[in-house]
Amino acid sequence: MSREEYRKILEPYQGERKELIPVLQAVQNEFGYLPEESFAIIAEYLGAPESKIYGVATFYAQFHFSPRGKYIIRMCRGTACHVKGVSKAAEKMRDLLGISVGETTSDYKFTYEEVACIGACGLAPVMMINDRTYGKLTPDKIKEIIDSYYEPAEA
Ligand code: FES
Repeated sequence: MSREEYRKILEPYQGERKELIPVLQAVQNEFGYLPEESFAIIAEYLGAPESKIYGVATFYAQFHFSPRGKYIIRMCRGTACHVKGVSKAAEKMRDLLGISVGETTSDYKFTYEEVACIGACGLAPVMMINDRTYGKLTPDKIKEIIDSYYEPAEA
């Protein structure tokens, strides 16, 4: 990421320490994660030690430190989904993508996460892919859904 890219991201801010969280969010919104060099650049901009920037970023679960997929899969591992057999769907998903929890596919298309109840228990087993909810999951349905993300876009 170039200095110029950072300059544009930081432009709306005043360079005050109280802006740290919004600045971290802005950088992550732009790149999908916080690149390693971002800590030194933000530290310089806000006049704070790099260790402090890093310390704050690692404290919050919302910040990520490696590139993430275009699509974030959140498989529910709550009780209702567990009872309805989400384990089989989750296993199918991990097998299909060839990744484990918290990992990203090598083409940066998918990141796979497992989360607590997402509030759609009536549809259990449930997952979300970005903002979209998919319910009544079965291993077969998982394959159909993932395949649909690889189909060519309609002209
Ligand atoms: S337990 Fe999965 S949506 Fe509630």
